[in-house]
Order: sequence, then C-alpha cells, then structure tokens
Amino acid sequence: MVVALTGATGLLGSNILFELFSQYRHSPGQLTVWVLGRPADRQPLAERLSELMQTDGRHYLQIADPAPFLDRIRAVDCFLGHPNLGIADDSFREMKQHPPDLFIHCAAAVDFRDQPGVVEQLRQINVEGTQQVLALSEALGVPDFAIVSTAYVCGIRSGEVAPDFSAPNPTFRNPYERSKLEAEQLVKQAGAEGRFKRVHCFRPTTICGRLIEPPIGYTPKFDVFYAWLAFFLRLKIKQLGRLDYETPAFIDIRVALRRGSGLNIIPADYAAKALVHICLQRPPSQAYHLASPGLTDNYDDLPGLLAFIKVSLPDFVEKMPADLTPLERVYYHRSVGKIYDPYISKPVPLFSLDSLHEQLPVDFPECPLVKGPALHALLEFAKQHDFGL
Ligand SMILES: NC(=O)c1ccc[n+]([C@@H]2O[C@H](COP(=O)([O-])OP(=O)(O)OC[C@H]3O[C@@H](n4cnc5c(N)ncnc54)[C@H](OP(=O)(O)O)[C@@H]3O)[C@@H](O)[C@H]2O)c1
Repeated sequence: MVVALTGATGLLGSNILFELFSQYRHSPGQLTVWVLGRPADRQPLAERLSELMQTDGRHYLQIADPAPFLDRIRAVDCFLGHPNLGIADDSFREMKQHPPDLFIHCAAAVDFRDQPGVVEQLRQINVEGTQQVLALSEALGVPDFAIVSTAYVCGIRSGEVAPDFSAPNPTFRNPYERSKLEAEQLVKQAGAEGRFKRVHCFRPTTICGRLIEPPIGYTPKFDVFYAWLAFFLRLKIKQLGRLDYETPAFIDIRVALRRGSGLNIIPADYAAKALVHICLQRPPSQAYHLASPGLTDNYDDLPGLLAFIKVSLPDFVEKMPADLTPLERVYYHRSVGKIYDPYISKPVPLFSLDSLHEQLPVDFPECPLVKGPALHALLEFAKQHDFGL
C-alpha cells in the first residue's frame, strides 16, 4: 500500500501517520508513506519527521525503535498555495514511479481570525492548496482521495445534519469555515467528474488530545478549548504576578454560554483510527462526520475546566451582555471570546454518525466522551505544558 499524506506534522495528521503504521506494525515493508510537508525553521522536513517518530510516534506505537517505520517514510517538501506546491521535479518523478494508492489531504491553515491577511492565507492554503493537491493526485493517477474538512462547514444551525449536507447560504462562524467548505466542494466536484475512483470527505468536530493511545492527553498544540481556558489562566497570572494553579482567583467576566448545548469534541487518536480504518477498507465514495456521540456540556462540564485552574467567574449568561466592562470588551472583541463565542453561545447541530458507524466494525473502539476523568486527563497533560503559554 502506498499512501500520500499532507499535514503529518500537525495534531490530526501525526496521529493518522502513526495509525497507518499501527495497521502495518507486523509488516511495515508493505507500506510506503509519501509525507508531503514543510521544513521548519532551519529543520528539514525529514529531520522533523524523524524527531516526530522518535518522540510521539514511539509512544503511540509503543516501540523502542521507530527505524523500521521511519524507513517507510518518503519526505517531500510541499508548500500549499505555492505554484505546483513547490514540489521539486525530482520528487515528482520519484512519486510517479511509486504512485500512491490513496491520498489523504489533512493539511490546512487552522486560523479562526477574521482579518484580511488571514483570509488571504486561508484562501491560498486551504482552497488553492486543495486545488493543487487534487491536480498532483490526478497527475500521479491516484485512485482514492480523502480530504479532512470540518463538521462546521454546515454553518450555524441546529437539528440533525448529515455529513454531506451543505446549506445554500450558510452563516459561518469565521472565514476558516468558508475556506474549508470551498476546499471540500473542489474535492466533491473532482469526484463527480470521475477524476478519482473514490472520494472520501471526513468532517471532524473540535479535535482534542489523545484519549486512547499513550501518552493520554497528548497534543502538540493548545488551541480551541485549551486556548479559551489559557486566556483565563493568563489573566490569573496577571492578577497574582505568577503562574499558580492552586491559589483561587476571581475573574470578572460574564461569559455567554448557550444552555443545553456544548462542544462536540473528538480525540485526535479516535479520529485518526476511524479515518484510517475507513480509507484502508476502500469503500465507495462517502462523507463521514468524525464527531463524538455526546457533547461536553456548557453548563455541566465547562465549569470543571475553570475549576481545574481554580478560576471562578460570575454566573454564566445566555447572551453577550449589552453593558460590557473594559475587561469583557477584551474577552468578546479582542481575544478568545471573539473567536470561540460563536462555538459556545450558538446552537450545535446533531452531527449524524450513521455513515461512520456503518463502516466501523462492531469491535472498533468507542469514541471516548470528553467529560469527567477523560476531560481531567486532557487538562492534566495541558497543565504539564502550561497550556502552551
Ligand atoms: N483542530 C481541530 O479542532 C479541527 C477540527 C475540525 C477539522 N480540522 C481539520 O483537520 C485538519 C488537521 O487539523 P489540525 O488541527 O491537526 O492542524 P494543525 O495541527 O494546525 O496542523 C496543520 C498541518 O498542516 C500543515 N500546513 C499548514 N499550512 C501548510 C502549507 N502552506 N504547506 C504545507 N503544509 C501546511 C502544517 O504544517 P507545519 O507543521 O509545517 O505548520 C501541519 O502539518 C485540517 O484540515 C483542519 O482544517 C481540525
């Protein structure tokens, strides 16, 4: 099996890479993974991947020596949004000699800000980048193409939503969601035009650290709900003059949270396992939600997050107050509230899991709910890394 993967240096993509290796743990020689990614500051891509396998990959696969798997990686410098993805002619020729059976396009700019520079970057990386990845896959004669989209491309709505649903004029929370929908549409169009044998679209909800594979809680980044909590932690540091998880602090911000609703959060390893399992089965073209069957409830579970960092707030409110204090203005207009308020104060649809459950065998691991001890484990890991502050 030859797989091409973008985004392998990110949260979900790295778990996809490890899960591919996990599926071939007894016969790594049967798998080749073309990893298309970027070098980091003065660190070539191959070195980044080697470090990733030596650290996180070794833990995920519970192996002492990742060399047999590292040997199966072919690193290709690739820059989404650059002409021809910035792929060198030699690399293209090598890929052409060992073309992928499956292309998993997971990379994206994940940036919820609504600013001109960001919007342009989202267009280049997420939309044009996907167009370029499709063109590359076609040039390589790839039969199966999978894209990682987001469940929130359905826009702000309530009620049950099918994984292939698209509203005529959705109200998006941010330009990122729009860019993901546009990217998804390009892939669907390619599928409809018969440019691939099979096209799969995976729509994850909010992705958190691992809850199945070790180390539990692991995540390389602390965005979404971690960043929401880190905002209050930062204010607490300002108040106390030090980072201190134990001393209680009161922060006077009336946070708007929709009652009876919550965040749909899916662990990165569960999402990767489901995606890899489905892709390797090679079912007919289909769309899937990668979503939790239960919500992390705004009123039942989010107070536990604040209690974890010993921060108390005034009672939650249903809507952003009209008479904002200066600190509340920072929350709602200039920081995390601006970015995450649309996710916690607006309705959350019921993401249909029918197509996902149809494809997964009965003994497939259950999706861990992000509540109680599982939520605590995620927070413990984040605390060990000071929430990325
Ligand atoms: N995180 C979530 O809660 C969430 C929820 C729903 C859907 N998704 C989707 O899931 C996928 C993975 O998300 P994630 O959170 O794992 O992302 P992530 O951790 O931010 O990683 C993004 C990946 O994309 C790569 N990338 C970004 N821009 C690139 C460019 N111009 N050229 C080449 N590679 C580029 C990054 O490479 P570098 O390491 O070099 O930056 C990294 O490997 C994305 O498609 C995202 O839209 C994420």
